[in-house]
Amino acid sequence: MYKKILVPIDGSDKSLKAARHAARIAEKMDGTVTLFHVLPQPPSYYMRSVDNIHQIILNEAQKYAAEVMQTTKEQLADYHLTIECQTAIGHAADEICRKAREENYDLIVIGSRGLGELAGYIMGSVSNRVVRHAPCPVLVVR
Ligand SMILES: Nc1ncnc2c1ncn2[C@@H]1O[C@H](COP(=O)(O)OP(=O)(O)O)[C@@H](O)[C@H]1O
Ligand SMILES: [Mg+2]
Repeated sequence: MYKKILVPIDGSDKSLKAARHAARIAEKMDGTVTLFHVLPQPPSYYMRSVDNIHQIILNEAQKYAAEVMQTTKEQLADYHLTIECQTAIGHAADEICRKAREENYDLIVIGSRGLGELAGYIMGSVSNRVVRHAPCPVLVVR
């Protein structure tokens, strides 16, 4: 039923918790888990300051993404699973929904909150938008 599971990861404890839930489900269903991190597109006016700064920022973001996904993958080492790691550049919620739609994911497992500092909200802006626009069921882990 939930064979192909997408897990958006931002490096927060909640997203790690979401990844553990996804791993448990995938293991039971003989499915796969894709860890997915969306890098923000650096604003184009940065181009005016330093040559190549766009690329430098994206390279740093890629390094961060690789670290975050590697750490998360290591935490899932005990599960008997195929785990893929992928990235995209853009707005997090839009890229998550687009990927789920274009690649026919069966389930998105996402943290209720992430690294944001705004206290008092049950859900962050990314999880909120994904719940509203996803093409498939969404499990919000809190
Ligand atoms: N850049 C991102 N790439 C992939 N997933 C993300 C990204 N940002 C947030 N998420 C996912 O959305 C969840 C909720 O985060 P978010 O809505 O940004 O809340 P907050 O406002 O607390 O940061 C995270 O636990 C993570 O699963
Ligand atoms: Mg956030």
